[in-house]
Amino acid sequence: MRITRITLANCRNYGEATIEPQAGLNVFLGRNAQGKSNLLEAIGLLGTGKSFRTSREAEIVRDGFGLASVSADAIVRSGNVTLGFTIARGERTTRKTLTINGRAVRYAHFLGKLRVVSFAPADLAVIVGAPGLRRAFLNLALAQEQPSYYTALAMYTRTLRQKNALLRAGPPYDEQLFAIYDRTMVERGARMTLARAQYVQALGPHARADHLRWSAGEELVLGYHSAIGYEIGDDEATLRERFEGALEAARGRERARGVALVGEVA
Ligand SMILES: Nc1ncnc2c1ncn2[C@@H]1O[C@H](COP(=O)(O)OP(=O)(O)O)[C@@H](O)[C@H]1O
Ligand SMILES: [Mg+2]
Repeated sequence: MRITRITLANCRNYGEATIEPQAGLNVFLGRNAQGKSNLLEAIGLLGTGKSFRTSREAEIVRDGFGLASVSADAIVRSGNVTLGFTIARGERTTRKTLTINGRAVRYAHFLGKLRVVSFAPADLAVIVGAPGLRRAFLNLALAQEQPSYYTALAMYTRTLRQKNALLRAGPPYDEQLFAIYDRTMVERGARMTLARAQYVQALGPHARADHLRWSAGEELVLGYHSAIGYEIGDDEATLRERFEGALEAARGRERARGVALVGEVA
């Protein structure tokens, strides 16, 4: 999987630039603020549909312009593909368009066509920072790899938001609605937990081998811990039970505090 051509137009500090990366390692050298990180950001946009530098996408549009675009020819698993990403900055709104071979596609379809892994100094926070960053890391990796993970995540996130709204509103509660939300969270959450656990387990030996090589002998062990109590070997049904148990145990506290306390998403 590789990019054979990438064109940036009115993207950050680029007017128009086309680069044809070669197979293997490509190194970009340049003075400070010349646009090296901006180029990496543009590549990331084509893989994840999102910037790893900012959540305010309007920033990506070159100052003084209305439309930024990144497009690239890439060789991916399914063959040759042309990917496009544009952001139109209007007076009040910002509109993003994702295309595959010139046809506009939905985010879920675009995501993961080209697999991109970014690593910047700030990413060390994945190790030393808050748990939410590790969840976000796993979500991004798994959403690129498995469309069904993305669907589950989207559904789960929406449900959690709805549940929080219900909790915030306070009693009297619509118990039926609560039960529906909990069931959705348990179902999707168990599937996501299992996918995360399997991902960490698969990553473990690779991370260990790389770390051993770079650190001259230090051993790295990756493990997966979940607030709902994952144990190695758990299947989806077991995880559903654990999730249900955790929700039940927290029910009183969640209602007293008016906020969901189990199953944060990122
Ligand atoms: N929307 C934008 N319009 C024009 N210039 C931008 C925009 N966003 C960032 N820049 C410029 O891009 C430059 C930083 O580029 P960057 O890729 O971070 O540099 P580096 O090569 O050091 O990694 C800065 O000069 C900054 O002002
Ligand atoms: Mg930089």
